[in-house]
Amino acid sequence: MERIDKLLVQGGAGSRRDVQKIIRDGRVQINGEICKKPETKADENSDVITVDGQAVNCEKYIYIMMNKPAGVVSATVDNRDKTVIDILPREMKRSGLFPAGRLDKDTEGLLIITNDGVFAHRMLSPKKHVDKTYVAELDKPITEETVKRFKDGIIFADGTKCLPAKLEIGESVDNKIGIVTICEGKFHQVKKMFEACGIKVVHLKRISIGQLSLGSNLPIGSCKLMTNLDKKSVFIGNIH
Ligand code: URA
Repeated sequence: MERIDKLLVQGGAGSRRDVQKIIRDGRVQINGEICKKPETKADENSDVITVDGQAVNCEKYIYIMMNKPAGVVSATVDNRDKTVIDILPREMKRSGLFPAGRLDKDTEGLLIITNDGVFAHRMLSPKKHVDKTYVAELDKPITEETVKRFKDGIIFADGTKCLPAKLEIGESVDNKIGIVTICEGKFHQVKKMFEACGIKVVHLKRISIGQLSLGSNLPIGSCKLMTNLDKKSVFIGNIH
């Protein structure tokens, strides 16, 4: 149990001062009962807390899946471009959020945004080998030789070695779509892996992290809160 004003700050409803006013104005309800005292205690996991009738998630940590659009950067602040934090819906905004991992500015797809550093560290740790799967549209067809090179582990021109990766040829008449699964996060990794094979990536989209898939009902640019099952599925079914 925690004070309602503290929980509402945690839930992104405003500063301590703002939320105390909101509470005194009678705009807050706990389980359907108006609460006018900032010192009232509530449980962020089991109580339904609303402001003006809108539920506020007051849990300490939140986990958001975003279908990142091209043109925004995977950062918390940037003085030139819009960031993935800038485009979060107002009700999900709160302090301390950051993208767990990076997608290039021109890459679309699944990105997790959280304020839980332990979760992000676990997900990004090279030792955990969490799989990331991408759909890559290419300027040239994939051959069986390309598939084999990915499987053996690509070596970049500077000598950097990649772990073995899975490359499947996606459904298309010209074999110019690759479905790539990697378990590391080197800078521009997928683009550089294809580049090492003389192929240019013209469009890249991440479709899953571990067993967590983007699915088809999260339109580009939109977000949803992850369930506990979503969180667990990040860590299951990895290839290495
Ligand atoms: N590999 C890339 O080249 N770019 C990304 O955004 C992610 C993986």
